Amino acid sequence: MGQPVNVGVVGCGAISAQYFQTIDRLPQLRLVAVADLDLDRAREAVRPYEGVDVLGVAELMADPRVDVVLNLTVPAAHAEVALQAIAAGKDVYCEKPLAATTADAARVLEAAAAARVRVGCAPDTVLGTGTQTARNAIDDGLIGRPIAATATMMTPGHERWHPNPDFYYVPGGGPLLDMGPYYISSLVTLLGPVASVIGAASRTRPKRTIGSGPRQGEEIPVLVDTHVTGVLVHASGALSTLVMSFDGVATKAPNIEVHGEKGSLVVPDPNRFDGQVLISGKDGWQELPESAGYIGAGRGVGLIDFAATPAGKELRAGGSLAFHVLDVMESLLAAAGSGAAVTVASTCERPRPVALHSSVS
Ligand SMILES: NC(=O)c1ccc[n+]([C@@H]2O[C@H](COP(=O)([O-])OP(=O)(O)OC[C@H]3O[C@@H](n4cnc5c(N)ncnc54)[C@H](O)[C@@H]3O)[C@@H](O)[C@H]2O)c1
Repeated sequence: MGQPVNVGVVGCGAISAQYFQTIDRLPQLRLVAVADLDLDRAREAVRPYEGVDVLGVAELMADPRVDVVLNLTVPAAHAEVALQAIAAGKDVYCEKPLAATTADAARVLEAAAAARVRVGCAPDTVLGTGTQTARNAIDDGLIGRPIAATATMMTPGHERWHPNPDFYYVPGGGPLLDMGPYYISSLVTLLGPVASVIGAASRTRPKRTIGSGPRQGEEIPVLVDTHVTGVLVHASGALSTLVMSFDGVATKAPNIEVHGEKGSLVVPDPNRFDGQVLISGKDGWQELPESAGYIGAGRGVGLIDFAATPAGKELRAGGSLAFHVLDVMESLLAAAGSGAAVTVASTCERPRPVALHSSVS
């Protein structure tokens, strides 16, 4: 193994702890500095880790030790922070979605291309054994030609547990932009890019009440649709039916099912790295053994995939997949608004498969 990749993190909120744990246990990565608008939050977040500097955002961007900026800010700040990193000549890896709008995301990708730096983006969960084993089964022809998929995410809303859930209910959030990246990245991994969409969406109530933390009981405005449904028409001709909801209370529907001409697959939660992949057969459903993907992965494994990808080769958890996924989601909301089908302007390569291996090299 060569030198570890030095990571500088901007944004030390709820999700940062998971990344810090992954970086801490993977020898391929080293956390050198963190920044946040709230410096106390940043100090508290890295308290368990030795030798990590807490810096201002501009200082972190200028730090010559930082190889890649890991952008864990809220969606509305993703583009601004990514553009700062790119202007400083750094690679950048963003939490999802790549930006709050495709216009902002396009500015990020254009700036990165001009500066010859790389853009990676979550979710990296789809590089784990769950989605990758299902993809392997499809590529091996176990279900025949894929013809359709269903994807269902149903939760009454993240304000029940997140202490600062405002970003889930402003543009860049909502069930589609928040959870859609997991499901649509998985569907593109399984079935390839999306050519057009139809959709419908609703908003059940104008306010939400924060359920935990110091702001418990505070009401926040809802500025986005909170139940979004639609059909994604893949370029291959396969049809994915999507339901993303912060309104429904519970569901027993599988997260994702893929149906082929010869059989069907149950694909595990794309917001997790692993999970049971089931295939239909004459004796009922059977579990497939893990056959592809990073074993024992955690949030941040996309960074080692990023580091292991030679220059000039498309990243698996990369900017063009993330842009396409955002474009699909924006097109779906436009289709829901107009009631007409919308052609998705962008496309991307179906990400390369991940061979079965440990995330610790
Ligand atoms: N919370 C989760 O379970 C979860 C899971 C997966 C992905 N994500 C994604 O991770 C990202 C962050 O989510 P979170 O839950 O940690 O949010 P959070 O609100 O808890 O934390 C975000 C942090 O970013 C900081 N920040 C915002 N704008 C900034 C800027 N311009 N410069 C520097 N710091 C800035 C805030 O001060 C805050 O500390 C989002 O994109 C979210 O979609 C969150």
